[in-house]
Amino acid sequence: MSSDKAQVDNVSGQTTTGHEWDGIRELNTPLPRWWLWLFYLTIAFAFVYWIVYPAWPLVSGYTSGVLGYTNRGRVAEDVAAGQAARMQFAAGLEKASLAEIAADPKLTEIALAEGKAAFGDNCAPCHGSGGQGQKGYPNLTAGRWLWGGTFDQIQTTITHGIRADDSDTHTSAMPAFGKDGILKPEEIREAANYVRTLDGLEPEQGVDVAAGKKVFADNCAACHGDDAKGNIEMGAPNLTTKVWQYGSDINDLIYTISNARNSVMPAWGKRLDPVTIKSLAVYVHSLGGGT
Ligand code: HEC
Ligand code: HEC
Repeated sequence: MSSDKAQVDNVSGQTTTGHEWDGIRELNTPLPRWWLWLFYLTIAFAFVYWIVYPAWPLVSGYTSGVLGYTNRGRVAEDVAAGQAARMQFAAGLEKASLAEIAADPKLTEIALAEGKAAFGDNCAPCHGSGGQGQKGYPNLTAGRWLWGGTFDQIQTTITHGIRADDSDTHTSAMPAFGKDGILKPEEIREAANYVRTLDGLEPEQGVDVAAGKKVFADNCAACHGDDAKGNIEMGAPNLTTKVWQYGSDINDLIYTISNARNSVMPAWGKRLDPVTIKSLAVYVHSLGGGT
């Protein structure tokens, strides 16, 4: 049953809409005025938005809006601003020598930040994220350098690499004393045990360490030095520092001496720009470099 006559409701004193179902009548309660205005305002806002900003898709493209705003344009502006800021820093780094960078705290700070980021991108897979190295890849924080730990030496190594595809690369080759039949297996074992004692490690029982010392003097000292403290002219490591690239286990040492390792460090001079290389040199030097 429904009656379509609007009436006044006795209880609330409000008019009804005239809709009635089974004796229940619907009150006519208009929306609050403030709500309605807000609603009209949002509609008006939508129209303004459609006009000034990109809004409606068309067959190919979209309505571009009278302001000419695009997200792409916005990103391009941000990138350009970032590059301009970087160029300002880069110009400072480009002109300064490594010594000048070292003497200027502001430049050092910029170079360290740049170098750290570039290290994470390019070097960490081999040298570890903090430069601490891993088996086969040198620890750059230990202060034991194959080719020297000054700013310039580090920069040269990074630029030209070691045994790398670069005409100025560092080259040197430890002989494979076992594989190439230069020493007999027992001589290699004796030398390996002697090397352990240089580093304060226990030799194996029953091995003639004195004989190992002689093998070392005759075959190894030419590169590693009489005192085994290494030679950066040959990239031959100091064997007395408790820092080992390939391990100090007797088996690791025997393998190193028998086969030689002669690892490759890539040359970065053609892959990275000079400012990045300079920054890397400053960063690597900060990890464990010397003067
Ligand atoms: C593919 C692996 C690899 C990558 C990547 C790599 N290195 Fe090396 N790096 C080596 C190896 C291996 C050596 C040691 C070579 C040797 O034993 O003679 C080395 C040696 C070095 C040395 C010489 C250390 C010394 O004792 O004189 C420096 C400095 C160095 N790396 C810096 C870097 C920097 C900076 C990067 C990134 C731009 C980098 N490396 C990327 C493998 C790598
Ligand atoms: C021609 C020069 C040369 C001679 C001779 C030489 N070495 Fe080496 N040795 C090197 C170089 C260069 C390296 C570093 C190579 C690398 O890291 O791949 C090295 C690395 C080593 C290492 C690895 C150190 C580590 O950190 O793990 C050991 C151990 C070693 N040599 C022992 C010897 C012994 C013992 C002899 C003599 C039997 C010898 N070497 C003779 C040049 C030489």
